[in-house]
Amino acid sequence: LIESIYALEILDSRGNPTVRVYVELFDGTRAYASVPSGASTGQNEALELRDGDERYGGKGVQKAVENVITTIADALEGMDATQQKEIDYTMIELDGTDNKSKLGANAILGVSMAVAKAAAQSLDLPLYQYLGGTNAVRIPVPCMNILNGGEHADNSVDFQEFMLVPHGAPSFKEGLRYVAETFHILKGILKERGLATSVGDEGGFAPDCESNEAAIELIIEAIEKAGYKPGKDLSVAVDNAANSFCSNLKDNYDLVWSGRGKMTSDDLIALTGEWLDKYPIILWEDPLAEKDWDGFAKFTAKYGDRIEVVGDDIFVTNTKYIKEGIEKKTANSCLIKLNQIGTVTETIEAVRMCREAGWRYFLSHRSGETEDTFLADFAVAMDGGHLKTGSACRGERIAKYNRLLEIEHELAGRSEYRWK
Ligand code: PGA
Ligand code: ZN
Repeated sequence: LIESIYALEILDSRGNPTVRVYVELFDGTRAYASVPSGASTGQNEALELRDGDERYGGKGVQKAVENVITTIADALEGMDATQQKEIDYTMIELDGTDNKSKLGANAILGVSMAVAKAAAQSLDLPLYQYLGGTNAVRIPVPCMNILNGGEHADNSVDFQEFMLVPHGAPSFKEGLRYVAETFHILKGILKERGLATSVGDEGGFAPDCESNEAAIELIIEAIEKAGYKPGKDLSVAVDNAANSFCSNLKDNYDLVWSGRGKMTSDDLIALTGEWLDKYPIILWEDPLAEKDWDGFAKFTAKYGDRIEVVGDDIFVTNTKYIKEGIEKKTANSCLIKLNQIGTVTETIEAVRMCREAGWRYFLSHRSGETEDTFLADFAVAMDGGHLKTGSACRGERIAKYNRLLEIEHELAGRSEYRWK
């Protein structure tokens, strides 16, 4: 049973405030969890409560912390920590809004994750097993974001993320080695060409490339130079985060750096086709803006049998939008981010909906992260087969990879590793 709940304002990997929640049970168990924060957020995400005053440029989270310590703690103290669903729905009711704007999704998610960790600890189970059962043995393929653009870097690349996908590796440990080695080779190539080797928010390099194509070509070159076969050992995944280069009109995209300038949804779909013919790409996320549902459906009809088409900003881990997406064949996969919806229970419901529809689901960190490794355990528990949690540098990203190495080791021979 929950004895007490406490919260602190801490900093995330961008130096912005975020919420950490501590939960203590009557049996002496003590656990804490920290909440991540996105930059290229979808419009319909659950609300991250910020103070909006003079501290931290308005980004303080003292109100969210206060909501945990007072309203939420009062309601949950004495409840059974293993009753995750009951606890999460108590908070949802307490908040009473559609987007958790009263208490803040950052307050609610912090409690939700900390309760899950405390319950697992109290039952003496690893978190992945507590949330996923004894069959949770599949370690996700690490889709490593090694080149950053868009809103995650101050460079000239429009597309937000270029990821390396080591689907041909025999294990997570080897897959991680493949991508980390390629990361170092890419650094060398950038250096040789006089391009910047500084990194973006998720630890990927952020060079000023002359076009988006030039960015992907650098990556393919790095894969080959590292001694791997593009398309066989390692493939590429792209996240356009297309909202960030789409104006208010859904058919008005502006690809400044490709030299293509203004584009329609159809142009962008055709451009993807060119890329798919040329490059070993196996997954494409947010190819179009979140308001461009028709474009998404066209894109999926055209390429859905060749690649995984992931909706992030368009679905925001919300079963209301995922359901609509399944009906309209808007995509064939959904990005899963705990803080887009705000509780562990609702995130699991989103995963379940995808699974039942035969969709894939892609577990994800945020561009603003902490050293918390909840995501690593959660990804194993959800059995999604792949996750994205950044590059081969920046401690907040590495913490998740290291936890996955630990889980694979702990499962000693029982673990699985496969793309599908
Ligand atoms: P965000 O980016 O965390 O800044 O929203 C991640 C993504 O778009 O997938
Ligand atoms: Zn995305």
